[in-house]
Amino acid sequence: MAHVRLGVCYYPEHWPRERWAQDAAGMAALGLSLVRIGEFAWSRLEPKPGRFDWAWLDDAVETLAAAGLEIIMGTPTACPPHWLVARDPDMLPVGADGQVRGFGSRRHYSFSSLGYREAARDITARMAERYGKHAAVVGWQTDNEFGCHDTTECFSSAALTAFQTWCEARYNTIDALNAAWGNVFWSQEYEAFNAIGLPVAVTETNPAHCMAWRRFSSDQVRDFSADMAATVRKHAPEAWLTHNFMGNFTDFDHFDVGADYDVASWDSYPLGFLDLADLDDAMKARYRRRGHPDWAAFHHDLYRAVGRGRFGVMEQQPGPVNWAPHNAQPAAGMARLWGWEAIAHGAEFVSWFRWRQLHVAQEQFHAGVLHADATLAPAHGDIERLARELAELELGDTRPARVALVFDYEACWVTDIQPQSAGFAALTLALEWYSAARLNGLDVDIVSPDAALNGYGLVLLPCLPMLEHALLDRITASGARWLAGPRAGSRTNEFAIPDGLAPGALRTLVDLRITGVDALRRGVHLGIDGGDDDDYVHHWIEAVESSTEPGLVTRDGRGVTFDGDAGTYVAARCSRPLIARLVAEAAQAAGLETRPMPAGLRTRRRGDHMFAVNYGNTAQRLPEGVRLLLGQSPLPPGEVALWEA
Ligand code: GAL
Repeated sequence: MAHVRLGVCYYPEHWPRERWAQDAAGMAALGLSLVRIGEFAWSRLEPKPGRFDWAWLDDAVETLAAAGLEIIMGTPTACPPHWLVARDPDMLPVGADGQVRGFGSRRHYSFSSLGYREAARDITARMAERYGKHAAVVGWQTDNEFGCHDTTECFSSAALTAFQTWCEARYNTIDALNAAWGNVFWSQEYEAFNAIGLPVAVTETNPAHCMAWRRFSSDQVRDFSADMAATVRKHAPEAWLTHNFMGNFTDFDHFDVGADYDVASWDSYPLGFLDLADLDDAMKARYRRRGHPDWAAFHHDLYRAVGRGRFGVMEQQPGPVNWAPHNAQPAAGMARLWGWEAIAHGAEFVSWFRWRQLHVAQEQFHAGVLHADATLAPAHGDIERLARELAELELGDTRPARVALVFDYEACWVTDIQPQSAGFAALTLALEWYSAARLNGLDVDIVSPDAALNGYGLVLLPCLPMLEHALLDRITASGARWLAGPRAGSRTNEFAIPDGLAPGALRTLVDLRITGVDALRRGVHLGIDGGDDDDYVHHWIEAVESSTEPGLVTRDGRGVTFDGDAGTYVAARCSRPLIARLVAEAAQAAGLETRPMPAGLRTRRRGDHMFAVNYGNTAQRLPEGVRLLLGQSPLPPGEVALWEA
């Protein structure tokens, strides 16, 4: 039986020492057993170069441990202290505009600075040496949110040199690089690797150059991360190791970076990201105080894959955040619902950010479990209730789903580099197709393009421009049906149009040639012949040549769906109801049972339990005849139900 832990993020360095024991007792009394500390405390751990002060952290660890709490120790490398920056200003990141991004907030380092890498390794090693074998320090987090605040890419001269070396390792000869990138176009040919520049020029730079740069930047994050992970592991061999990844974030390949960790964790801020999302205003208004019903779930399933089956939520939104354009107050009970939902998707732990709101500095408007004056904030009651309920239950492990959704970070870079229809993004399609599956009551496993696919009945490929034969071979061998979305197989690995045109490798399973794209402005909807008003395509529709008669056709006569061997190609971005209908048909063809969900209600199985959460604004009926262990039917907004299934 899985043991799920609840926790909180705590910053002893922000509070007087006399307060720590009271805080620790408060956490334990609330039912928390994990506490993350340390990740921004470098200036207090090494106030002067080579002069360390561990005494306060020793005390904090002992105080928390004495209250029965277990600790996740965060290494402090996201916040290099001022003396280090002053000593080595070359470590600072440089923006695409050539401006140095200076001291005064956080993440002010370049992944390509070898000097910084050394300093980061040093403080990480010292911290891990000191606490790596402490019985109460059960887990470690490296750094904090790699890539946050647009820091994956750095345009410094160190990065450029590293990029040139990276290119040489990948292409061997400059002629091979010139040929692969198509540099004959606009006389972009280079005479040597050290002539290659940053992908910043008068106008759009070569997409192959940009793609190489994105791959290189991702590799820089992976190398830094792997170095830090190995450093911790050396001194803390028994503890589990994690990094806290982010939501809606695709700037580096998380499958790659995640491979160095035992558990993936992520920071879940459903309302901040709803406000930032590219969703229509009506939807944003509907879910303003609860979040989009599929957003957190998508990330739980994604990070479960990144963690090879193991994940947790390191930072769960407790109340309003401070960083979105409009920071809504969560509706009553959401801190509990979000926590339960993470658990439903298999989380090993859920930890709220942060214990107490801070009265100074940048995050004054960011809620905590306690208000700034240490009185209880609304999240406190929610967490208390969740902790009580959780203590009564024995939960099993997550079981494999029958639907797999293939998510590819490189696909996100391709659509960023060449959107062709403004705002077209592989991540958006992945979220929409995920939502479509869940609207049909289907559990989904998100998988990497390299994952084994045995056991799945349906494989969703929402947007995979660099789709390769190996993936299709695995789908075919698994016996699963497939549903592939626009742009599949439309580019080679080196960002060229494939021989025989798109959908490239997929042409082995469906007879198609994509000869063009009609990019549709926002608000242009093409209705489906014989469909409802809600059934339309928008944003993107391809011109298709095929010997196969299309299934769905737009009212102006363009083919949208094309059946092939054991699957269907969808040549457009579909409205949400339309893609839900297509996913339902594909699932049914695969012999999977679908259960249409009412607005805002979602379900998820974990072990022998079925969970339901209601993100909607009205109460929703649950299936007849189930014996509820938690919750009621109809399920009120913001509530959670649970039954054996
Ligand atoms: C996260 C970050 C935390 C805190 C939080 C505020 O991105 O890891 O340190 O800043 O956001 O919502």
